[in-house]
Amino acid sequence: MGRKLQGYRRWPALKVADLPPDTHQIVEIDGRSIGLFNVKGNYRAVLNVCPHELAPVCRGYVRGTTLDSPPGEFRWGREGEILACPWHQWEFDLLTGACLVDKRRLRLFPIEIEDDTIYVLLRPGRQGGS
Ligand code: FES
Repeated sequence: MGRKLQGYRRWPALKVADLPPDTHQIVEIDGRSIGLFNVKGNYRAVLNVCPHELAPVCRGYVRGTTLDSPPGEFRWGREGEILACPWHQWEFDLLTGACLVDKRRLRLFPIEIEDDTIYVLLRPGRQGGS
């Protein structure tokens, strides 16, 4: 089990078997919609609110993105690591929460895995925050 985080409450979210690599699910926890992603074996819990204009970002598309490329070339990469918002297609790095086109970020929540369960850690009473 991971370290104890002061002030957080641990919520059981999913069984590990229900979130195989390269899949995601949206769950409701304590009144918050949260996307759980398995990014090549790395689990992430993402508040289902886009920092641009509040779309349900976790209903977007998990894909790759264009990489730095010399003029005249088009290189695609990072397949399965990028979440594109369904409204305006802003791209977010699922591993860090960083937006690829802006300084705003996805809100990520801490996760713990114990036995066969994925737990999300939330601070009580803070809607939308961690
Ligand atoms: S609301 Fe997500 S990119 Fe605009």
